[in-house]
Amino acid sequence: MIFITGGAGFIGSNFVHLWMNESTEPLLILDKLTYAGNLENLSEWRHHPRYHFVQGDINDRALIQHLLNHHTPRAVLHFAAESHVDRSIAGAADFIQTNVTGTFQLLEAVRAYWNGLPETVPGPDHPSRPHFRFLHVSTDEVYGSLSPSDPPFSETTPYAPNNPYSASKSASDHLVRAWHHTYGLPTLITNCSNNYGPYQFPEKLIPLLIHNALAGKPLPIYGDGQQIRDWLFVTDHCRAIAKVLKAGRPGESYHIGGAHELPNLTVVHTLCDLLDTLHPRKTGGSYREQITFVADRPGHDRRYAMDTRKIQRELDWHPLENFDSGLRKTLAWYLQHQEWVSHITSGAYREWIKQHYGP
Ligand code: NAD
Ligand code: TYD
Repeated sequence: MIFITGGAGFIGSNFVHLWMNESTEPLLILDKLTYAGNLENLSEWRHHPRYHFVQGDINDRALIQHLLNHHTPRAVLHFAAESHVDRSIAGAADFIQTNVTGTFQLLEAVRAYWNGLPETVPGPDHPSRPHFRFLHVSTDEVYGSLSPSDPPFSETTPYAPNNPYSASKSASDHLVRAWHHTYGLPTLITNCSNNYGPYQFPEKLIPLLIHNALAGKPLPIYGDGQQIRDWLFVTDHCRAIAKVLKAGRPGESYHIGGAHELPNLTVVHTLCDLLDTLHPRKTGGSYREQITFVADRPGHDRRYAMDTRKIQRELDWHPLENFDSGLRKTLAWYLQHQEWVSHITSGAYREWIKQHYGP
């Protein structure tokens, strides 16, 4: 069995779908169900014998200890986090509590469990100390910002986080690294670029643009819209995590990215043009008319880019989608799942949008 934290969020739920469809191994999912966690993302599996869900907090060490001892997983995949940069700027407390303290509590519970595992076991399906893995899902944002001519971030680039979210993720990466070096816990770290795809909460750029475009609302672009991100379709990220889990070397980190750097303005133009074709505006004209430039994000990182040669070379991972095919799939999913969007965009969501973008 595999134990997944944060499995009801965007990337975690995509990973659950991939695993349930392509593996025969059971999953135990722990999620606090914050505003970003949604059981609707996983509803198709709720009666499946290989699917087990527990609502809980990674800070609850006693609960985690109990779940580990009771279910004896062979690996923990740690997706749970507060993940939105703008929210971290508005208030960092939850980011420290979950990303830093929560990761510490989880590591300590896992270390105690791992210490109690046998050194060798009779068959490959039983957990043992050498074969156990703790995989920590992290981000490219820990490296700070690149100038246009800099080479992409590599696994040896020094950490230089610039906002509370990336600082809290950096801290969690450092804890994971230290638990390997000090205690020998067999850890793996993945640092991935910006993801997009089904089930992404519409506070992040691409689903926010889709939602606002369809609702006839402004498409808010921070600053000059020339900030560059490297976009990766979420299933490609999940496949990379599965490869790292299977064959990654303990103590190592692996970069994952789409090798597809785009300025934000190009992303919004591409999306508007695709929407114009697939779902033309009832009032005529292009969705581009809805683009609005708004105040920049404080401390906004200018450019992220990932050097992914290590995971390509060692684990033979390559993205299967390009930005055009991934965006088409994403848009098709949101157009078919307007009910999911309308459930998500009630109450707390409206409050955030009002607070952040104004009435
Ligand atoms: P998300 O915000 O969509 O989901 C996070 C999930 O964690 C939610 O289900 C939430 O309920 C759960 N959670 C939050 N606090 C918790 C706690 N204290 N205990 C248990 N569960 C808790 O995030 P995401 O976009 O799916 O990101 C998942 C991971 O991937 C994060 O660690 C993030 O830093 C990392 N990551 C994200 C991206 C991206 O583009 N979204 C890119 C690289 C890395
Ligand atoms: P986001 O999806 O929040 O991811 P991250 O900040 O982790 O990269 O934002 C992606 C880019 O889009 C980033 O440069 C900020 C920008 N952005 C906007 O221009 N407008 C918006 O309303 C949002 C949410 C983001």
